[in-house]
Amino acid sequence: MSSSSLPVKTKIVFFDVKDWELPYIKKLRAGYDIQTVSAGLSSENVEKYKDAEIISVFISSDLSKEIVRLLPKLKYIATRSTGYDHVDIKYCASKKITVSNVPTYGDNTVAEHAMALILALTRRLPESIDRVLKGDFFPDGLTGIDLKGKIIGVIGTGHIGKNVIQMAKGFGMKILAFDLYPDEKYASENGFMYSPLEYVLSRADIVTLHVPYNSGTRHMINRENIGKMKRGVIIVNTARGGLIETDALFDAVKTGHVGGVGLDVLEGEKFLSEEVELLYNDKCSGVDFKIALENHALARFPNVIITPHNAFNSAEALQRIIKTTIENIDAYKSGKMINLV
Ligand code: NAI
Repeated sequence: MSSSSLPVKTKIVFFDVKDWELPYIKKLRAGYDIQTVSAGLSSENVEKYKDAEIISVFISSDLSKEIVRLLPKLKYIATRSTGYDHVDIKYCASKKITVSNVPTYGDNTVAEHAMALILALTRRLPESIDRVLKGDFFPDGLTGIDLKGKIIGVIGTGHIGKNVIQMAKGFGMKILAFDLYPDEKYASENGFMYSPLEYVLSRADIVTLHVPYNSGTRHMINRENIGKMKRGVIIVNTARGGLIETDALFDAVKTGHVGGVGLDVLEGEKFLSEEVELLYNDKCSGVDFKIALENHALARFPNVIITPHNAFNSAEALQRIIKTTIENIDAYKSGKMINLV
């Protein structure tokens, strides 16, 4: 057979790839010209991949209109994440580019991380660990609070929020919930009530966020409603940083109105790096320096815990993510698409 009669292989590029993912990627059906890249897709490298017909990315890749339009052959994006706010879905739809995600890899995983943040704050783990590391084994001044009997306000009762509810029930907490689309059947089976957002925020001892980030949820937690929360409230965010108005949160922690904060995600987190790097980085157009500084400053309060967008990062969840992504791509190729967004 001459080379000109060989079937043309579909060019697929995997971005943000870690070494351990390679054996899974090799399990893809035949018929692909596969390229793997450890970096994310960005304005700096997009030019190199303009032949790509399929791409698979993680949230650290930038799939804004400005970048997607530089991939003229692109037909399908398989994001290896649940959230897809890093993809300009509207623009992709206008260009007939199909997008899939991994809808349910980390329901328990992210919920467990939210509970870890809650427990670390209520039992003052960072201060306790710090004290012991300094050779001081006395618990004076490290009094925490019980979870039993406290009210947890769960904002967003989808896959992750429902797992948080189960775990909170295990701790004997009282549940209040808010969701744009309440699951009343689930609520009555699990003995809790849905209420309007403002009511949940004003009654909760602990507020935990599990909604997607979009124009409707941006700054859902803001200066006005933080002011109406209970003094000493604990706020936990494992969803997306932009859900909280950082400036208002920073002020509320400073005045002591908010008693504890656990953040796995930060507003503007893609611009976060060492402070000095931030100052000298010539790619920092678009950086909101005030938010970046407040993020750094927040991390230094003893009652604030920040983790580096790590809630998804359990061994089991990572395997589920890549396995489902490979299934998504195979399904796309066979014409029976699954997990579309
Ligand atoms: P889901 O889609 O199962 O649940 C989201 C819930 O939010 C739904 O019940 C929906 O009705 C509700 N909702 C949507 N818009 C709303 C609004 N404006 N107001 C009130 N409720 C609204 O999503 P899932 O799997 O529970 O994930 C939630 C979020 O967690 C994701 O969108 C993602 O951004 C984030 N996430 C973070 C991870 C991390 O590593 N930190 C990992 C995985 C997800």
